[in-house]
Amino acid sequence: MNSTLTTLMAHRSIRQFTNQLLTATEVDTLVTAAQHAATSTFSQQYSIISVTDPTKLAILADITGHQWLVQAGHYFVMVADQYRNQQLTPVTATTTANLHSLDKLLAGIFDATIATEAIVTAGESMGLGSTIMGSILNGAQRVIDLLGLPPLTFPVLGLAIGHPAEQPEQKPRLPQALMHFNNGYQRLTNNDPSLVAYDHLISDYYHARNSHQRDETFTHHIISEMSRDPQQRAAILTALQHQGFLVD
Ligand SMILES: Cc1cc2nc3c(=O)[nH]c(=O)nc-3n(C[C@H](O)[C@H](O)[C@H](O)COP(=O)(O)O)c2cc1C
Repeated sequence: MNSTLTTLMAHRSIRQFTNQLLTATEVDTLVTAAQHAATSTFSQQYSIISVTDPTKLAILADITGHQWLVQAGHYFVMVADQYRNQQLTPVTATTTANLHSLDKLLAGIFDATIATEAIVTAGESMGLGSTIMGSILNGAQRVIDLLGLPPLTFPVLGLAIGHPAEQPEQKPRLPQALMHFNNGYQRLTNNDPSLVAYDHLISDYYHARNSHQRDETFTHHIISEMSRDPQQRAAILTALQHQGFLVD
């Protein structure tokens, strides 16, 4: 073990924070750590927006349903960004078609996502805790309007980060036999004993943890995730197209 592995393997999402704001130096350090993450084709096709305005934070709390985000020491919105590179590029049919493509959308999402995890881990190494928020996509167009995002940008993830006021139990992950395969995909078999064991482990975890105890296995959790109304986030495609992605 080393300190990097210890930090990575001690991860848990933090949803309660002290009221201590991050310092400008801490924010700068986190953004610098993000900037050093790998970036697809060295295009640096993402931007980071720090949201400090209480009115905007309240709107993000409403969109995500996470009222507690306003208590975090800092809030980032991670944005896939082909706009900046478009501004650098002479407009031709090829460049225009390319920047609007699924490939470039994915590259922006990869960059923004990898940068997000770099901030999470950097923060944890500094004694901070955080929660990534895909739930900003409950209102993608509202986030776009709120932050004045130009064409060819898209909000990918929110990130609430700050000084932890809780130390939740770690959520046990899948047995590696179910997610790490050699030389090809290993399909799940019916009643796989390692999945049955994992369901018990997760059930025990939910019963024993300090808050939001419930009766749930991993299988139940996935079934309930599957039963979410797909219409809830159907507006994502419309918002993407509104931003100029996937238009043809
Ligand atoms: C892409 C992504 C989106 C997420 N969105 C949310 C979210 O909107 N709200 C939330 O409370 N947690 C969110 N999470 C955190 C997950 O719920 C959390 O990582 C997972 O339950 C495992 O728990 P742990 O991080 O404590 O190990 C998100 C995580 C990822 C990677």
